[in-house]
Amino acid sequence: MQLACPVCKSVLLQQGKNLCCENKHSFDAARQGYWNLLLSHKKRSKDPGDNAEMVAARRQFLDKGFYRSLSDQINTLAIQALEGCSSPTVLDMGCGEGYYTSLLDNALKQEGISANIVGLDISKHAVKAACQRSKEITWLVASGADIPIPEQSLDLQLVLFSRLMPEAFAKPMKTGANLLVAWPAEDHLIELRKLIYKEIKPSHFSPENTLKEQFTLQQQERVTYNFKLQSADDINTLLGMTPHSQRLSSEAKQNICNQNELSLTLDVNLGLFTRL
Ligand SMILES: C[S@@+](CC[C@H](N)C(=O)[O-])C[C@H]1O[C@@H](n2cnc3c(N)ncnc32)[C@H](O)[C@@H]1O
Ligand SMILES: [Zn+2]
Repeated sequence: MQLACPVCKSVLLQQGKNLCCENKHSFDAARQGYWNLLLSHKKRSKDPGDNAEMVAARRQFLDKGFYRSLSDQINTLAIQALEGCSSPTVLDMGCGEGYYTSLLDNALKQEGISANIVGLDISKHAVKAACQRSKEITWLVASGADIPIPEQSLDLQLVLFSRLMPEAFAKPMKTGANLLVAWPAEDHLIELRKLIYKEIKPSHFSPENTLKEQFTLQQQERVTYNFKLQSADDINTLLGMTPHSQRLSSEAKQNICNQNELSLTLDVNLGLFTRL
């Protein structure tokens, strides 16, 4: 997969453990194996994206397998979207600690699809953790607002539970390529949210509307199933990877601490969009 210089946008060429463009901007490989293409003056904070605790909680929770069926369904849609591409280029934007990215890599290999996969996240804690999942995926610390991949390169882009930036996401994609978006549906983790909030307000988030200038919705499906957490530790780990953990009142904290098991609903929308 070709990468673009975040400073001048020209192509980056690899020379050993270094990426360099024709204008002599150069980037070293991190010890863990990722490339840091996030320019420090473009950072909004010193340590942007998910912090180390959230990343650790997400890894611990996802590795328990409760979301494996969701990942399988994402991969089924991705394989369908890549039909007819011989060696596709794929980006997982906001890849976090790489759970879905590495399972997609496995699923594509099993289908005999030899893809170039890039996982990109603004959090260096997340990308460091992702490097442990696979050495074959190209891992980038970079901003989704300025994706360092040349225009018209990607056959597929995944955006799983991450903020949508339609213009920036469209840029590196080929015309007619697919964007696969996952976002919580109405009942996602409703049982946990009821322990935290007095009133559950419906979300008015509509990716179709947000993306409409650059993308058209091709297919949408809803993945819904129940799973059960059987320890206070698992409940706390799940909480730690959600944004709810940042907004807990002491009453809600107590409510959650009192639970030793919790039956939960996974309820997620998957949308496959086509880049116009
Ligand atoms: C809710 S997590 C989802 C992670 C992963 N897709 C998953 O489902 O396990 C959102 C991720 O988006 C990342 N993120 C936030 N702002 C970003 C940006 N501007 N560019 C790239 N990644 C960003 C965060 O660091 C975090 O890892
Ligand atoms: Zn450059």
